[in-house]
Amino acid sequence: MSLQQWTTDLTGLSSLTQSTAPLPTPGDNEVLVEIHAVSLNYRDLEVIKGEYTHHKSITATDRKVPCSDMCGIITQTGPNVTRFTVGDRVLSTFLPDHITGQVTEKELTTGLGHPMPGVLATHRVFAESALVRAPSHLSDEEASTLPIASVTAWMSLSSRAREGKVVLLQGTGGVAVAGLQIAKALGAIVIITSSSDTKLSQAKSLGADHTINYRTTPGWDQEVLRLTNGHGADIILETGGAQTLRKSFECIAFGGLINCIGYTSGKVDDDDDEDRINVNLLTLRRSVTLQGIIVGPRDEFEEMVGFYQEKGIKPVVNRVFGFREAREACEFLESGGHFGKVVINTAI
Ligand SMILES: NC(=O)c1ccc[n+]([C@@H]2O[C@H](COP(=O)([O-])OP(=O)(O)OC[C@H]3O[C@@H](n4cnc5c(N)ncnc54)[C@H](OP(=O)(O)O)[C@@H]3O)[C@@H](O)[C@H]2O)c1
Repeated sequence: MSLQQWTTDLTGLSSLTQSTAPLPTPGDNEVLVEIHAVSLNYRDLEVIKGEYTHHKSITATDRKVPCSDMCGIITQTGPNVTRFTVGDRVLSTFLPDHITGQVTEKELTTGLGHPMPGVLATHRVFAESALVRAPSHLSDEEASTLPIASVTAWMSLSSRAREGKVVLLQGTGGVAVAGLQIAKALGAIVIITSSSDTKLSQAKSLGADHTINYRTTPGWDQEVLRLTNGHGADIILETGGAQTLRKSFECIAFGGLINCIGYTSGKVDDDDDEDRINVNLLTLRRSVTLQGIIVGPRDEFEEMVGFYQEKGIKPVVNRVFGFREAREACEFLESGGHFGKVVINTAI
């Protein structure tokens, strides 16, 4: 018996190659999962292109299977497995050893797809402790989008977003659209930005209260203040980075929370004076909480799955590609044409 997989040598999307490998046997406390759907993240592109370099403890080695987020069915259990049985539908966790609490340096070195083997394959063995039960109201494709994008949005919002709080989301990628759905389900007021009016209309239909095109309104921070009568955003999901962080500080409310998540508009470079911003003064000026987010632990993921189930939230799958189209799927994500998530179905 064999499995199908994609591997990369981390030199770019053209290095993605399809191959077969022997089907592994689960060991103690492990299960074999037949992977049905793999959801792509911005990070996967960085890994494949050899640009995922900000965690110095994570180093590249040889060819590897990329990607971290999947939904599949357990087809075999190893000895002493107690959490699951054959036939259970499960989701991967991004950092398999991060079960609860604050992430540690050691747990950070266990990321799926880099440095550990990823999930862009038809089968993979997982430690049973590294899996979460998939919610029954979601398809495999929808459920596969939860491990990184939704958990990241959940960790940014769950402690503070509630009725009447203003949440600002940047762009309409995976994290932002999950953030929109979670924030609305928590009763918050949502402002979302995008470079595309079409995507902003899609965000409106998902419940966004206010939309701003950051291309045609480069002073979107001032627009956030105008829309909130000078109050600003109570919570910001800072996914933009270099071109957005300064403006986030201009439109954060007093006592607000800025979640530092990503850098789709580029990284703020320590060595570049032009990009450098005075985080010290900007943070204290409005008594801001600046919080770094690294996805979240398994117990928070499980709580979030319960929330999705209770509220009936269905993640937005923008486009589904077949397994043989993995490279095209990555190229589509790279083009930025998506709204929400891009998924690969291993069966088509
Ligand atoms: N720290 C963590 O735990 C964590 C977890 C997940 C993701 N991330 C990071 O968060 C970022 C977003 O991830 P993702 O998976 O949601 O990415 P994604 O799905 O690829 O989203 C890309 C979107 O970013 C938007 N964007 C680009 N430039 C922008 C700008 N100047 N201002 C506002 N939006 C801009 C675009 O939205 P429009 O097309 O609408 O303009 C684009 O479609 C990435 O940097 C990723 O590495 C971090």
